[in-house]
Amino acid sequence: MTLPKHIAIIMDGNGRWAQLKRRPRTFGHIKGTRVAKKIITDCSRRGIKNLTLYAFSTENWFRPQAEVSLLMQILRRYLKRETENLVKENIRFSVIGDMSRIPADVAEAIGKSVEATAQCTGLNLVFALSYGSRQEITEAVRDIAARVAAGEINPEDIDESVINSALSTYPTPDPDLIIRTSGEQRLSNFLLWQAAYSEFYFTDVLWPNFTECHLEEALNAFSMRQRRFGKVTANDNVEKLSN
Ligand code: FPP
Repeated sequence: MTLPKHIAIIMDGNGRWAQLKRRPRTFGHIKGTRVAKKIITDCSRRGIKNLTLYAFSTENWFRPQAEVSLLMQILRRYLKRETENLVKENIRFSVIGDMSRIPADVAEAIGKSVEATAQCTGLNLVFALSYGSRQEITEAVRDIAARVAAGEINPEDIDESVINSALSTYPTPDPDLIIRTSGEQRLSNFLLWQAAYSEFYFTDVLWPNFTECHLEEALNAFSMRQRRFGKVTANDNVEKLSN
């Protein structure tokens, strides 16, 4: 089976799952965190090299204050409790996104986990936190423009690799497979540049109900896809146009 080198997941549906159970939305985030933990371990054991989880978008800051602060505390608690386990599983942890908006105690927990797992060589686990792809691209453009203004590079030297390396995801390779749960079929400002040739897998399963079996289904679907990256394969029957 062809395994994706990089899986990115939009973990959607926590709120709806909780509402169906007549519980507060935050209950869904707590269950969603347990699911994230299982999926991280599963990816690591399957030999996946890179996993990016969309944990909090720039738009999520507009949610009610109580929900935002609970999500932040869930993240802090997850990192405090899980860092030892990450090290044991040889998982290297990092984050992408606007860290300037993250509360100090959460930022501190992130820093400690990043440091503790820095030498790990297994799964590269990335949380997209306070992340928005348009913001990321805007910053990359600003960064490249400043380098041009400083005379470090010429405008004609700007190519895809210059842009790639100015993005916060660098040097993680582009995602081969993007999974979104809960029936929504959109990217919601997630990895817009990096998703140029990603395969998409949408499932109606709400994130808190997502299991290792669902991941297996997504991986099976991925291995059946023919990825041509805009080219044709030798077997493609190319018809000639008659006048
Ligand atoms: C989308 O569900 C989910 C989020 C906005 C947060 C995702 C966060 C977690 C799963 C918990 C923290 C994660 C880790 C990795 C520790 P939603 O609230 O938008 O659900 P809805 O669309 O049903 O309202």
